[in-house]
Amino acid sequence: MNHYYDLYQQRAKELAAQIAKAIDGEYAAIHCYKKLETLAPTKRERQIISEIRKDEINHYNVFSSIYTQLTGHKHSAVITETCPNNYHSGIDFAFHDEQETVDFYLTIADSTSNDFIKESFKRAAMDEQNHAVWFLYFLKTQR
Ligand SMILES: [Fe+2]
Ligand SMILES: [Fe+2]
Repeated sequence: MNHYYDLYQQRAKELAAQIAKAIDGEYAAIHCYKKLETLAPTKRERQIISEIRKDEINHYNVFSSIYTQLTGHKHSAVITETCPNNYHSGIDFAFHDEQETVDFYLTIADSTSNDFIKESFKRAAMDEQNHAVWFLYFLKTQR
């Protein structure tokens, strides 16, 4: 087997592992935001969290189909992070998680020359940045 082929296979494996981690993160967020939705103090906040959750479902679906195309099999998501049960801790957790996810997705986008994967992760990073701003606003306006 030639060296370049090995390297290519290695990179493809690493990318698939990163995407699996992204799918797990989206899966955890979908569950966490369901909980935050029920804890939200106002109808307006509940609606915004519901919209954010819809974005995460969309990310989950896009990343899952990318993963399946890359590997030929489906990734079964596992929840690796725990979501706080209290609203204030929950939105604080969500804010930090969204911020870290922006960096993580941009790193994935930079690591691939596949335009579809690149654009999908860049677009998701923009959504996560927008989510982070909302959670920061909720944190700042909470009494
Ligand atoms: Fe997301
Ligand atoms: Fe998000």
